[in-house]
Amino acid sequence: MTDSSEQARSAVPRHVAIIMDGNGRWAQARGRPRALGHRLGVQAARRVVQAASDRGIPYITLFAFSQENWYRPEREVSVLMRLFARSMRRERADLQRNGVRMRFIGDTSAFAESLRAEMRAVEAVDVPEPRIQVRVALGYGGKWDICQAAERARQEGVAIDEESLAARLSMSDVPDPDLLIRTGGEQRISNFMLWQLAYAELCFVDTLWPDFEASDLDAALGWFARRQRRFGRVAESR
Ligand code: IPE
Ligand code: IPE
Ligand code: MG
Repeated sequence: MTDSSEQARSAVPRHVAIIMDGNGRWAQARGRPRALGHRLGVQAARRVVQAASDRGIPYITLFAFSQENWYRPEREVSVLMRLFARSMRRERADLQRNGVRMRFIGDTSAFAESLRAEMRAVEAVDVPEPRIQVRVALGYGGKWDICQAAERARQEGVAIDEESLAARLSMSDVPDPDLLIRTGGEQRISNFMLWQLAYAELCFVDTLWPDFEASDLDAALGWFARRQRRFGRVAESR
């Protein structure tokens, strides 16, 4: 018989969500503009998606821009918007070769039409059998997500319950995250996926996002494998 703790140790999460925090501090600590931290943050994201794919993780969701991030200085917001558009253009060419299917979640209504067009182009890339599915949360807010699901249910005349809301949330087609990693040392959710993280294991690390390497992902996965997930029940006796 397999020891359940052994099983738990070998468990690879199906879905990893990441709050990629600490770009600004990384740059500021070096006397460099925050924009540099964001540029290196994109490279870190690319690295981590590749590492997650190599480790057989089928879904990864990256928090790149929150609804609250709109309240940053206009200059930083416009740097980020340009960086997003540029990265998408660049990334689009490699999606098929890397077996990456990319989708966006969030309220995109405030984004420039040119950026929205880049997003549509990325989503249109046909990757029929992806090695990994990447969700990028842009203009995302957990409260917004729940409200838009409720509003859709109301418009469709559907009673609001757990099932009808869950079916209308941004990630209804994807299993809930098993593991949330937040870099940058803060221990909060910052309005990320409030509903979907209900039973995620929360892993907070001090590493600033531009420094996050495959080895840091491995450390988080090792930590995850040692968690005993109970979902409100009692631990299975062995
Ligand atoms: C995360 O890094 C990226 C975004 C929120 C866009 P930050 O820009 O929040 O970096 P810190 O937290 O200020 O260091
Ligand atoms: C969370 O980071 C949002 C993203 C990483 C996109 P923030 O830097 O915006 O979070 P707070 O303000 O420290 O809570
Ligand atoms: Mg931050």
